Amino acid sequence: MFSVAIMGHGVVGSGVCDALLAQNEKLSRRFGRRIALSYVLDIRDLSGTRYAPYKTESLSVILRDPEVEVVTITIGGLDLAADYCFKALEAGKHVVTSNKAVVASHGCALEKLAFEKGRRFMYEASVGGGIPIIRPLNICLFANNILEIQGILNGTTNYMLTGMFRRHASFDEMLARAQRKGYAEADPTADVDGYDAARKIAILSSIAYGAFVDYRNIPCSGIRNIAYCDHELADKAGFTIKLLAGSRFEDGIIYISVEPKLVPKGHLFSDVNSVYNAILTKGSYTGDTLFYGQGAGKEATASAVVGDIIELISTPRSYSLPEFVKIPSFLYLSALSLFI
Ligand code: HSE
Repeated sequence: MFSVAIMGHGVVGSGVCDALLAQNEKLSRRFGRRIALSYVLDIRDLSGTRYAPYKTESLSVILRDPEVEVVTITIGGLDLAADYCFKALEAGKHVVTSNKAVVASHGCALEKLAFEKGRRFMYEASVGGGIPIIRPLNICLFANNILEIQGILNGTTNYMLTGMFRRHASFDEMLARAQRKGYAEADPTADVDGYDAARKIAILSSIAYGAFVDYRNIPCSGIRNIAYCDHELADKAGFTIKLLAGSRFEDGIIYISVEPKLVPKGHLFSDVNSVYNAILTKGSYTGDTLFYGQGAGKEATASAVVGDIIELISTPRSYSLPEFVKIPSFLYLSALSLFI
């Protein structure tokens, strides 16, 4: 039995619960251990749902239960979620989270604590929704020096930009739709002003270049000032408008930014629409590698969380503590211009 507690039964947390129960037979057959959902921590009223028997409002009940091996933290915000991550690792649990604010702000400290405790801190779902990208960067592409990363990393804004153009819809109308679909953050400022994408490119760049990249220093502008007429003009000139996050590591300098860009039609990113994300990495051995898939939403993000839980069954110890070097000349410069 492999016992998992879920903290937060919102969009992502409820998706993880559903997936664990729905795929339980398959998971047990494949891994030889039954994955048991043991607790769901939330203040919401879950009575009348199939999760009522699992509900608790007490963190310490979960942390004191020796059966619980994995704590999955799918609550939003920063301070409380970070506190839960630290406490769960201190209590000797593995931690899996989808919370990119926590990873971008406290990822190094949490990785270090997990290593000291012989446990793992995992966060595949923090970038790219259902797209596997953290594990490929950490493991599959490890032989490479990563030279560059570019991506459409925010599902909400990509959904909004696509809808504004296709439906002639307003910014507010598309934002409301994205919120209804569960794509947007509780405070959608993080999406529309580019901070969510900044956190994600900071996480990817930290892993890729082995240097802690502080998202607060990233030049960042969002999509607030983009209207239908901009899409129309771009279209006539042969471009599509996308919110792009990019970073490049060259001669000891990191160039990094989050900005709306004009992407020429025919470019790989020009056909990445709706809630889809795409991430292009340039490796010294592989050259370009493209990752594409749904970047937000309940099921896609739950899939990434469940992937981390499953990896813990087979690889419960950290490979090693990621080395975060200090780069002597570490500058944050706008990566590109108006055009991709
Ligand atoms: N609000 C985020 C997005 C959720 O739209 O991409 C997934 O990280």
